[in-house]
Amino acid sequence: MPQLKRSDINKSIILAQKVIEYFGVYLPSFAFWTPEDWKKAGSEYDEIRTCMLGWDVTDFGSDDFKRTGRILFTFRNGKLNNKNYPKEYAEKLLIDPEYQRAPAHFHRSKREDIICRRGGNILVQLTKAGADGKPSPEKFTAQKDGRTILLSPGDIVRLRPGESVNIPPGTIHQFWGEEGTGYKIDGVGFTLSSEISSVCDDWSDNIFMNDNVVRFPKIEEDEDAMFCLCHEYPKV
Ligand SMILES: [Fe+2]
Repeated sequence: MPQLKRSDINKSIILAQKVIEYFGVYLPSFAFWTPEDWKKAGSEYDEIRTCMLGWDVTDFGSDDFKRTGRILFTFRNGKLNNKNYPKEYAEKLLIDPEYQRAPAHFHRSKREDIICRRGGNILVQLTKAGADGKPSPEKFTAQKDGRTILLSPGDIVRLRPGESVNIPPGTIHQFWGEEGTGYKIDGVGFTLSSEISSVCDDWSDNIFMNDNVVRFPKIEEDEDAMFCLCHEYPKV
């Protein structure tokens, strides 16, 4: 069965570092560490390991990374029911190449703000989930930069750089960089967005609309890893 290749992950992170720098955003030093550096890192870095900070590159099991995938960097996060990691919030940076989307999903517990930071526009498609977890036909409201807006199922909210929308738990969402608006780097249009949310538990709080989605897919090791993903840190 075809799998996400390590070479694609390495390439994506190197390009993401370049895009982030281009947009004038800075990353903490551990964003540049190699797997060898992580082997030497002691228990003082346990928050990074336990709360899954750092790089997150996935194709959601699609085998079509260019179209269905995501490249993220988690700066901060807590861990539910763990008094050692009491942060009640999380922050991620999303590197959005045009034509790449994450699959539609909702969260049982996480509430998130999606913020378009730099580059082009972000389009956010929203639908309320019913009690059965399926799309509901009801109209609903959302907060866009503090303003209440009324939406119908499947409506798309356009975020220009600086704008944001709040996505409450139980809201099916999918968002992506609007084609033709991203800032071209190496021939691809990029937009940078962030997610500020309550604690993020990517193992159990993502309900995908398609049953075949895998949040952390198996990786084909076609070359050596240049970085550790957030679920790959070696144990101390
Ligand atoms: Fe989400």
